[in-house]
Amino acid sequence: MATLSDWSDTELAERHALLTDAYAEIGRRNLQLDLTRGKPAADQLDLSNALDGILDSYILQDGTDVRNYGGILGIPEARALGGRLLDIEPAAVLAGGNSSLNLMYHFVNYRLESGPAGAPGWRTTASDPVRFICPVPGYDRHFTVCDHFDIGMVNVGFTADGPDMDAVEALVQADPSIKGMWCIPKYSNPTGHTYSDATVERFARLPKIAGPGFTIFWDNAYAVHTLTGQAAPLANLLKLARAAGTADNVVMFASTSKITFAGAGVAFLAASEANLNGFEDYLTASVIGFDKVNQLRHAKFLPDDAAIASLMQQHRALIAPKFELVEAKLQAALGDKGIATWTQPDGGYFVSLDVRPGLASEIVKLAADVGVKLTPAGATFPGGHDPNDENIRIAPTFPPLEDLSAALDVLVVCVELATATHQMGSRS
Ligand SMILES: Cc1ncc(COP(=O)(O)O)c(C=O)c1O
Repeated sequence: MATLSDWSDTELAERHALLTDAYAEIGRRNLQLDLTRGKPAADQLDLSNALDGILDSYILQDGTDVRNYGGILGIPEARALGGRLLDIEPAAVLAGGNSSLNLMYHFVNYRLESGPAGAPGWRTTASDPVRFICPVPGYDRHFTVCDHFDIGMVNVGFTADGPDMDAVEALVQADPSIKGMWCIPKYSNPTGHTYSDATVERFARLPKIAGPGFTIFWDNAYAVHTLTGQAAPLANLLKLARAAGTADNVVMFASTSKITFAGAGVAFLAASEANLNGFEDYLTASVIGFDKVNQLRHAKFLPDDAAIASLMQQHRALIAPKFELVEAKLQAALGDKGIATWTQPDGGYFVSLDVRPGLASEIVKLAADVGVKLTPAGATFPGGHDPNDENIRIAPTFPPLEDLSAALDVLVVCVELATATHQMGSRS
């Protein structure tokens, strides 16, 4: 079939009338569906219910009673788990509370105020400008952290290999007030990119051409979240940075939020020794120690790589069909019309849908008006502003398959209706 742009005026008007009827019919169904947040579904959470009651002792081999205060860096068993997720030795890892986003927030604050081995913070006066590079589309809560600290954000796009490194290198060279960059190096939220080896190597060298204190925030939230069973290889930034002499400019994060319990997992940070010491000092004012009981539960539940792989295989069995459904529905309804493109991720939690420029907010509104909530258009960009108004993030994991199917049927009608309306308007 020819793409929508090639249709005659009559064909377009006929199709528009059909879509208008279909949309009106959907409106009468009183739907209440939600495709907004990338949360695990209840059946995924159930996979880890054995965490409860797993402990037969609260005392570690070294005599530590995990029920008591202390130990900001976390218990050795949990640091080893973080080391497995981040592919680094446990001594470089802090095992924290239930949220890696919380660790990111605090690491930004630590670097604003101070630095590794007595290095100055990014801001010595309140008016010092600080900027971060943000690959877009990206994770909205990264941008919220920047907003919170009044950190400016500079968008860069993607190539097939990850962020557009030519643009990134030019930016950090030109502007020493760029102090950080968000990266989701594996199965990126929402685009699904996994950074190539060449890209990671360029990241390891990047601090050498950037202003002082430039720090790469390597948020490996989806380190083990393959949808195909074939893990995408990712080079290890901290190890490469050590070799390049830039280890103090790198901090890596992971968590078990989408492995065990999203709200009650364990978060990890890996950094150079100097940063780990500096960050521990910084944290001391706010916490005496994280939840070591939960750390021990996780260490027992996930004692080795095989246990992690087996649990992730069970997640995959539950969520891969949801991603397959997204692909099948989008392909069937939009595949031959030339009006949208979307990702087919090998892992992670999202599908990134690009519609014709200028139409994303309208499509999200059309869907909301008939009871289907989508992530707000623009949410994947700093300031909630997608300059092309074209990106829509689809989060298929949480709703049951039937709800997902119904929501996707609505989404594709809204995409086509908005595009046809716009096309007719532009011809008249
Ligand atoms: C890229 C990314 N980082 C971090 C998080 C949140 O992680 P946590 O639950 O460990 O705070 C998410 C959750 O969606 C995410 O997509």
